[in-house]
Amino acid sequence: MDKNMKAVVIDSFGPAENMKVREIPVPVPGKGQLLVKVFAAGINPVDTYIRKGTRQKMSGVVFPKVIGRDLAGEVESLGADVKAFKPGDRIMSSVMPKNGGSYAEYAVVDESRACLMPVSSSYEEASGIPVAGVTAIQSFEVADVILADKSILIIGASGGVGTFAIQAARELKAKITAVCSSKNSGFVRGLGAQEVIEYDKTDYLHSGRKFDFIFDYAGGGDLKLLKSMLNHKGEYITTVRRPNLLWNGMFESKYNWFLADINTLDLEWFRDTVGAGKIKVIIDRVFPMDQAVEAHKYVETKRARGKVILKIR
Ligand SMILES: NC(=O)c1ccc[n+]([C@@H]2O[C@H](COP(=O)([O-])OP(=O)(O)OC[C@H]3O[C@@H](n4cnc5c(N)ncnc54)[C@H](OP(=O)(O)O)[C@@H]3O)[C@@H](O)[C@H]2O)c1
Repeated sequence: MDKNMKAVVIDSFGPAENMKVREIPVPVPGKGQLLVKVFAAGINPVDTYIRKGTRQKMSGVVFPKVIGRDLAGEVESLGADVKAFKPGDRIMSSVMPKNGGSYAEYAVVDESRACLMPVSSSYEEASGIPVAGVTAIQSFEVADVILADKSILIIGASGGVGTFAIQAARELKAKITAVCSSKNSGFVRGLGAQEVIEYDKTDYLHSGRKFDFIFDYAGGGDLKLLKSMLNHKGEYITTVRRPNLLWNGMFESKYNWFLADINTLDLEWFRDTVGAGKIKVIIDRVFPMDQAVEAHKYVETKRARGKVILKIR
């Protein structure tokens, strides 16, 4: 095997143009880790935050820093004590920033954050699952109720997390109202939303509508108005951190922000549901590895419909 590999690296935090494709050493898997031959890397907004340096604590930064978290590929070799995988397995996973990054020909992942790919998926599709998919179902776990027949509002329904959330909520038999722009309305209806609110045509925050749960993957809406859209004992659950929220006390126990924790068990839910054809990985665009700059700029428009993927090989 080669000792060097191509990777998308940064030497300092900053704009997308800071990312360069360079030759660096292939990483070595430690205890409980897998060396993966990466075929595709799913891009998430968090990759752009790490690149910009707004998540320095998360990235455990040593320059040159390889960007990216999600990947799909083939297990190349095993570190000590790996039990569940063998060389040649086709897996999906998400790199811990301290272990490197996924926009590279090889990456090291923890066994506890890896899972076999859905049988019918391409590498591009499988690489789109880890962060967005697991975040979607963990937002339902935060709700901690059976969602069947509950009325839920999904804001940011057409993005990476939202497209998984609608489909998962449909499988769980929730009554889904989705919020997206008018250009995406037919698309999210096709994924399973019974009702769609086009935020560019309707002032839904003043509509007087009420829901059991609001899952917000876009952020930005006025919190007082969002609270007024919850039924008694309703809950607002978001992936987008809002400053000063704890101080304004507006949501009390009804407000939840959470950080997704990528783990094998939740990935297995997608291996099985995607593998059975119940849930689809929606891919907006696939960029070649040497167009990581363009790919990040596209993600930063916040207009992606489903996932944006970097093809590594
Ligand atoms: N806490 C965590 O652990 C965690 C995990 C994953 C993601 N996140 C965060 O969750 C958010 C969503 O992630 P993602 O991967 O889904 O992002 P994404 O794929 O980039 O989201 C793009 C989508 O957002 C929609 N959107 C933008 N503004 C909107 C608005 N005002 N109302 C409704 N929809 C809007 C766009 O739809 P239109 O074009 O129709 O506007 C587009 O389809 C990001 O802020 C991300 O950082 C947090």
